[in-house]
Amino acid sequence: MRIFSGIQPTGRKHLGNYIGAIQHYVAGQDRGEGIYCVVDLHATTVAYDPADLRARLYDTLAILVASGLDPDRCVLFRQSDVQEHPELAWLLASVTAWGDLNRMHQFKEKSGAQRDLVSAGLFTYPVLMAADVLAYRATHVPVGDDQRQHIELMRDIAERFNARFGETLVVPEGTYPTVGARIMDLQEPTRKMSTTGGTPEGTVYVLDDARTITKKIKRAVTDSDDPPTIRRGGPEKAGVTNLLEILAAARGTTVDEAEASLAGARGYGDLKAAAAEAVVALLTPVRERYEELRGDEDALEAILETGAGKARALASATLADVRRVMGVARPG
Ligand code: TYM
Repeated sequence: MRIFSGIQPTGRKHLGNYIGAIQHYVAGQDRGEGIYCVVDLHATTVAYDPADLRARLYDTLAILVASGLDPDRCVLFRQSDVQEHPELAWLLASVTAWGDLNRMHQFKEKSGAQRDLVSAGLFTYPVLMAADVLAYRATHVPVGDDQRQHIELMRDIAERFNARFGETLVVPEGTYPTVGARIMDLQEPTRKMSTTGGTPEGTVYVLDDARTITKKIKRAVTDSDDPPTIRRGGPEKAGVTNLLEILAAARGTTVDEAEASLAGARGYGDLKAAAAEAVVALLTPVRERYEELRGDEDALEAILETGAGKARALASATLADVRRVMGVARPG
């Protein structure tokens, strides 16, 4: 099993990223060959500050290492260090339907939020994402629920490429967590937790301290059911459902077990207290380790350099095949 996933260095990483993705990257190291990439080229598709991008890249890398990614047991690298990614993206664009890109929800959301320029890069973002994965012939892609449409498109691109040029690429499968695939905003639980689209009070950051986490979770929106019922439900129980998912994911149990553990609870306060305690226990060691790692940017660069070397070796082999079957570049 070869696992690939990517994470953006934009903004601060939040509980949704941690529960929906990062903790599964860490688990993946023991299940197969793990390849993880901080996707700085994707981050240039919206307005950004270059110096800030570099700083956020180090933040994200330090969070990944603090969460348990071990550069000796996986390939951990920066997307822009491996030029095979943008080259493959260009080549794959020739088998990508414009109409498919035009249907992407993320493009619609993000383009609507841009004040000045809606870049062509934002539109072709999913092609670069396909290239990220296909360059490694990865079999599994652990992501949260919001990436489903991008994963389906990536599969279509690989299939169309193979049909047009012969079996060259591996068609990967998305893997989605059974608990916590879509963590919702604590203040607006019908919207996903997100750094760009969510509310500041409803977003728990991986680097928030224990007091801040507890305060945000204790102020989470629930519902006015009387008596309060700590059970999963439809949109009218979105807040309680989200807290139960967070509790279960943070404890590593099922949602049924989380519900059962609160059978004797007096009200939503008990659910919030349990969720806050579990999230603090989950994130505190990550924050502490992050603080040790983040200051040493030379050490972080050294991790990236080693990772890029390993990544290039894998990606360049795929690119040699792709160039050959497409009839471009000097025959090798
Ligand atoms: P990004 O950086 O927005 O998010 C990183 C991962 O976190 C997951 N996630 C969530 N999971 C549960 N609940 C949430 N509220 C939540 N919000 C985010 C995302 O699904 C993702 O897995 N396009 C990707 C980055 C990317 C990529 C790739 C991923 C680039 N190339 C190749 C996989 C393979 C993105 O923007 O992730």
